[in-house]
Amino acid sequence: MKPFSPFQLGKFTLPNPIFYAPLAGCSDFPFRQMSAKYSPGLMYCEMVKMDALVRHDPNTFRMLDFEKGMHPIGGQLCGAKPQLAGKAAKIIEELGFDVVDLNCGCPVDKVTKDGSGSGLLKTPQLIGEILAEMVAAVKIPVTLKIRAGWDEENICAEEVTQIAEQAGAQAIAIHGRTRQQAYRGPANWDYIKASKQAAKNIKVIGNGDVVDPESAKRMFEYTGCDAVLVARGTMGQPWIAQDILSYLKGEQVPVRTPEDCRQALYTHFLCAEKYYNPRQVVVEMRRVGCWYIKSSSGTREFRGLISRASSPEEVRHLIQNFSFSHENEATHSLNSDADCEAC
Ligand SMILES: Cc1cc2nc3c(=O)[nH]c(=O)nc-3n(C[C@H](O)[C@H](O)[C@H](O)COP(=O)(O)O)c2cc1C
Repeated sequence: MKPFSPFQLGKFTLPNPIFYAPLAGCSDFPFRQMSAKYSPGLMYCEMVKMDALVRHDPNTFRMLDFEKGMHPIGGQLCGAKPQLAGKAAKIIEELGFDVVDLNCGCPVDKVTKDGSGSGLLKTPQLIGEILAEMVAAVKIPVTLKIRAGWDEENICAEEVTQIAEQAGAQAIAIHGRTRQQAYRGPANWDYIKASKQAAKNIKVIGNGDVVDPESAKRMFEYTGCDAVLVARGTMGQPWIAQDILSYLKGEQVPVRTPEDCRQALYTHFLCAEKYYNPRQVVVEMRRVGCWYIKSSSGTREFRGLISRASSPEEVRHLIQNFSFSHENEATHSLNSDADCEAC
């Protein structure tokens, strides 16, 4: 398979196999507006809880806002109750999403304590039951996203791949870290490779440490995966799907200058300003601003200034007037847990 050809998900054809991951607290509406400008094959919303969706919690519905230009788009469900899964998946479908995903990877204690997120990796058969309910309830493709296992002694990626396939899921995204690892250390792509070998028809999506075109190519080549899912590499690099596709096609990858980063940050600010109230805009830009300038000199100074800004006008002035310059154009770093509220 050529990695830049369209991606078939059941009856649904996605334009390319470079996907943007769900990022709780980060991949919100303005983030998705920025992402959509660079046409990833599919982008996921941040996860929402099944029970909150089923009881029609307005804040949960707001997290799922999207507009026409954001297709193809997936909604991700978090929960461990098969009796809610079908209803929740149906709501995602009725909202107009193209894909519905089950979260089996979130490592946070408050999520795993009721068996949700990566807690599901302890009960692989339950994953199958939940997926079967989702598949029976909707016509759109059902996917799931897992970690390799709960810990190194309990790796279950291959087993879950087979269970998911039997339950009718169309694709499985595998994050090559365990729950115990959280975000520490490198993702182990051997687990993705083994799952791809264990898969018959289900598509395997490789996830973990894809941060630039070179690492995306390595992920495809090493694991044989059908698509890659970029998570932290999308932060401050909404264009990464286009860069990866250009590289895979052997085309010149555009060099993003400090001025490009400023422009993109300003556009992100304008998206936030349209969507959020002034207080939320300021809070949002404190986090987002640092992503776009993380490879520039003056990052620390900018971070200090933006964290003291108290109005959207101050933020606007700062973005427009701060002097950005790249220390090292080739640096692609991942945001650490300390930078963001990592799920
Ligand atoms: C801030 C943050 C929020 C996340 N939120 C979600 C989420 O809502 N659902 C999910 O399945 N994974 C979530 N993840 C995990 C990522 O989607 C991804 O699996 C992980 O970051 C590894 O990919 P990467 O090395 O490309 O970052 C989150 C990760 C981070 C850092």
